[in-house]
Amino acid sequence: MVGYDSIDKAKLPKHIAIIMDGNGRWAEEKQQDRLFGHLHGVESVRDVVEGAAELGIQYLTLYAFSTENWDRPQTEVDGLMELLVNTIKKEVPTLNKNNIRLMVIGDIEKLPDNAKNELGEAINETSKNTGLNLVMALSYSSRWEIINAIKNISRDIQNGSLLAEDITQQLFSEYLTTKDIPDPELMIRTSGEYRISNFLLYQLAYSELYFTNTLWPDFRKQHLYEAICDFQKRERRFGKTSQQINNELNQ
Ligand code: IPE
Ligand code: IPE
Ligand code: MG
Repeated sequence: MVGYDSIDKAKLPKHIAIIMDGNGRWAEEKQQDRLFGHLHGVESVRDVVEGAAELGIQYLTLYAFSTENWDRPQTEVDGLMELLVNTIKKEVPTLNKNNIRLMVIGDIEKLPDNAKNELGEAINETSKNTGLNLVMALSYSSRWEIINAIKNISRDIQNGSLLAEDITQQLFSEYLTTKDIPDPELMIRTSGEYRISNFLLYQLAYSELYFTNTLWPDFRKQHLYEAICDFQKRERRFGKTSQQINNELNQ
């Protein structure tokens, strides 16, 4: 069985991003309310965060709530927000104990005040931690992020602090919410859906994609290890030929 020991610790991805999907179906399979699935999804978050921290992964981005998820039934949205607030409050001591820094990307202004406040506090209280950076994507969508970046770039051109000809890929990425965060090498989506759902469209340009049928509430460290092992078997060519890559490795 693929486990912790099968992972080459010298070739770990710096940044893993996960689309945590399948909570609703997991609950429906058990004839339960969708919120029951979200509640159990928190257990998976705990286990996977712990697993990533133990391995020494530097960044873990979890897609927890998309811009489009605001269109779900109000009871589900309210339940998710309540779960978010309660979980953050409860988890701060564990984050500190494990040296984990919490970060958030997304349109946070849309979140209810208590969620915004709890998040702000948790970010502050964990800001000095130097281990895993746990990036929660909340009220996040990539198109929102890109349009937002373009607005800010336009503003800076208008006020004279930026010249259009100075726009580079590097500069553009500094206007994204993932500024200072390296692009993910590995993106995992659970629940057997093969799509990106408006997640990190720019940053995933050269990420390795890993899809599993496991529903998020069943996902554990073990599944993370399997995804990392699969990733480590791949050849990342970035447009070059296999021969070029091998030559570079042998140099
Ligand atoms: C993922 O599970 C969690 C969120 C999007 C908040 P879903 O709630 O999308 O579960 P399914 O896809 O309906 O099973
Ligand atoms: C993507 O899941 C968003 C999150 C996991 C937070 P969805 O379940 O909302 O995605 P679609 O709508 O099926 O593409
Ligand atoms: Mg879903």
